[in-house]
This record gives sequence, structure tokens and C-alpha cells, in this order.
Amino acid sequence: MKPIKKVVIPVAGLGTRVLPATKSIPKELLPVVDRPLIDYVLAEARDAGIEHAILVTGRGKGAIEDYFDHAFELEETLKAKSKTDILKDIEATIPKAGTVSYTRQQAPLGLGHAIWCARDIIGDDPFAVSLPDEIVAHRPGFLKQMVDAYSKTGGNLVAVEEVPLEDTSKYGVIAPKERTGNLVEMTGMVEKPKPADAPSNFRIIGRYILQPEIFSLLEKQEKGAGGEIQLTDSMNTLNAQQAFHACICDGTIHDCGSKLGWLKANVALGIDNPEFGADFSAFISEMTK
Ligand code: G1P
Repeated sequence: MKPIKKVVIPVAGLGTRVLPATKSIPKELLPVVDRPLIDYVLAEARDAGIEHAILVTGRGKGAIEDYFDHAFELEETLKAKSKTDILKDIEATIPKAGTVSYTRQQAPLGLGHAIWCARDIIGDDPFAVSLPDEIVAHRPGFLKQMVDAYSKTGGNLVAVEEVPLEDTSKYGVIAPKERTGNLVEMTGMVEKPKPADAPSNFRIIGRYILQPEIFSLLEKQEKGAGGEIQLTDSMNTLNAQQAFHACICDGTIHDCGSKLGWLKANVALGIDNPEFGADFSAFISEMTK
């Protein structure tokens, strides 16, 4: 079984749910506590043993590439001022040369289309997909748990959590079969079903492990829910030929693509911060008295 060494991270989305904050900066660079959203997703991928990230980017997202590059003036200034701690923090954000690739999604045709844009860089290997809107507060990182599960199940995996039935129309929803521990065999999935049509209340979280055969299905560019090329539709077709398991997530998921979710992430991770978490927590208690 080939190991999972690459992750595709779609970053071309317009961030409409968090406007105006994202009018001139990519939503993936919105700070959560002291670092941008995209940092959390890359750190989680690294924890899972992933060596190469493919960012599917788009117009106006150039700042993401700059974030992962050296900022010579800044680094030189910090060096000259002997601000070594900050310098170390900055250097830690820069991936090893050659371990991040960029490809551009030229039109917003949907998540399935974004993933398909990475096909030449992925080639014939199984790979992970991480949607950067969602921070999964889980130790170790949730993708590691999925990669560990994959080493036993093979095939394809999606992360899921239970949601109230009335929320199914916001997400991809799986049709579950047998459950063993936190792994559920799947018979299919559907994108954004009405509650009455939902095959369960397990919604797909933005973490996936997929086989490269998904690309020939995405290639067909068939439109689904919302008139977009949906990843869920191609996964559903692939599920007729290959095994899919859902990995139930027991961590908290912060949807940083929404204003409330982003605020909650800042509070939750701020309270957890080793440097100022205790002070921040006292401040929150004071504010909410
Ligand atoms: C996408 C997927 C959906 C999944 C969701 C998780 O939807 O299409 O299946 O449940 O991400 O965040 P989107 O949020 O792009 O509408």
C-alpha cells in the first residue's frame, strides 16, 4: 500500500462568508490567535507524515505564496536587532524548499474542479485533501488519525461528525453501513441533501484520503448541487468500485470560513495558548459575567 505523502489544499475560494475582512486578503491568511489559518492545516498535515502540499490557488491569492517564502528585509532587520525568538518563529513558517507546489484554479467551478486541478502534481499516488476553513482541534492532528486508519483499511476515507438533521443541507452527508470503533463503512454519500433525503446525520468534514482514480471521474466535470462540480459526486461514484470509510472525529471543529466560527476558534485556541491563555481566559470570564 502506497503511503500518503501529499496533501491538496484548495485556497481559491472567495471567502464571501467573512467579507469584508477578506476583501483584500485571502481568507486562508486570516489570523487565528497569532498565525494564519493555513498554518494550522499545514502543521496538521506535517504531523500526519505528509511531505508535500499542493495549494490550488487563484486570483488575488498571491499573499499566500509570499507567506511561505523568505521576507529578506524583515529577517535582516530582526537579525540586526537581535530579535532571535521572533526570527525563529518566522523561519519556522517557511517550508523546506520544493515541498509546496502551487497550481491555479482559473474559474470558481467547485471543490471537485479545484481538486482536479492538482491531478498532474499528484500523479498516481493516493493523497490527502484538507479544506483550510476548518481547524480540527484534536491532538494528535486529526489527519494523523486518518492516515493511521488508512494503513489498516486502505481505499478512501472521509472525516465525519454528527450534526442535527436540520443541518444536512449545508454539507456532504454519508450513507453509513457497519461501524467498528470510530470507523464506519460507507455505501455512498450525497452533497447537501435536504434533511428528508439525507442518508444519515454524519456530515463530511474537510479532511479526506483519496485514491488517484478519483481524477478520471472528476475529469467528466459533471455539475451537481449548486451548479458546481462537486467532489462528493465523484467520490460517490468511486464508492461503487472502491472501499470508503468514514472516520468519526471526536475533536471540536471550528469553521473559520464563517464569522462566528472564526471568533470561536480565536477564543478556544486563545484560551489554550501556553503564553497568555490563563490571562485571556480570566479576561473572557470577566467579560461574560
Ligand atoms: C464542502 C464539501 C462538503 C463538506 C464541506 C466541509 O462544502 O463539498 O461535502 O461537507 O466542504 O466543510 P462547501 O463548504 O465548500 O460548501
